[in-house]
Amino acid sequence: MGKNKLKKFADMAQMDRVYQYPFAALREGGFPLRGRWGEEVFGNGNPIVLELGCGKGEYTVGLGRRFPGMNFIGIDIKGARMWTGARAAEAEGLGNVAFLRTSIELLESFFTPGEVSGLWITFPDPQMKKERKRLTGTRMIDLYRRVLAPGGMVNLKTDSPFLFAYTREMLAANGIEPQVCCADIYGADAPAGIFPEGLTELRTYYEQQWLSRGMTIKYVSFAIPPCGLELREPEVEIELDAYRAYPRHHVIANL
Ligand SMILES: C[S@@+](CC[C@H](N)C(=O)[O-])C[C@H]1O[C@@H](n2cnc3c(N)ncnc32)[C@H](O)[C@@H]1O
Repeated sequence: MGKNKLKKFADMAQMDRVYQYPFAALREGGFPLRGRWGEEVFGNGNPIVLELGCGKGEYTVGLGRRFPGMNFIGIDIKGARMWTGARAAEAEGLGNVAFLRTSIELLESFFTPGEVSGLWITFPDPQMKKERKRLTGTRMIDLYRRVLAPGGMVNLKTDSPFLFAYTREMLAANGIEPQVCCADIYGADAPAGIFPEGLTELRTYYEQQWLSRGMTIKYVSFAIPPCGLELREPEVEIELDAYRAYPRHHVIANL
């Protein structure tokens, strides 16, 4: 591992409200704060909202700034990216923001049923060939509902026509009516008030990349039916996206 990455991991180890629990660390002793995030980490009983695959954590930090009456946890397996958001939250003294370095697949090891009030999924890889890894696939939806409080909303922002179409089909196959479904949130036809005050300006690193390439940004929000109701994968062919993200070290002007 590079020196820079090691330094970031070491930095994060010193920060309050940053928890690094990849699978190996979790296996050693479990996560001691499971079911106690409110009381032990945030010192309040406010709703807890997760950002899954938070990358550099811009959205988690931005949500924390805008909604001081809620708590936000950014989750990603890549700690070197998360360092950016973790450092910003610490520098600003944002007591309602935390970061967790782990795999999304391990959510149940970190949260008890109902401990989470809502989820944001921001610009995930659409995983066009790997349904099991797709963050709005039924396997993952089933996982989310084991930690979400009843009525907890899932919010997806994506550039990907494939993931947007897939998610709508997945919802239809399971009789779930989206609360909002918008193919172009910055377009002239976007419904007014689609996001609360100030949230439209909040853009992640990947979102800025897609916007700079002229892509439209799509948004779907929905509540998941309770555990026990079987979820079905949609049985439709969806056209694959004809483009890919830039390679990791590509520099985008004006970011
Ligand atoms: C395309 S990036 C988007 C990052 C950020 N949300 C943004 O919009 O800039 C996807 C992120 O999801 C993370 N990720 C993907 N699958 C994951 C998983 N199963 N568990 C944890 N993180 C995951 C990756 O490490 C990566 O940082």
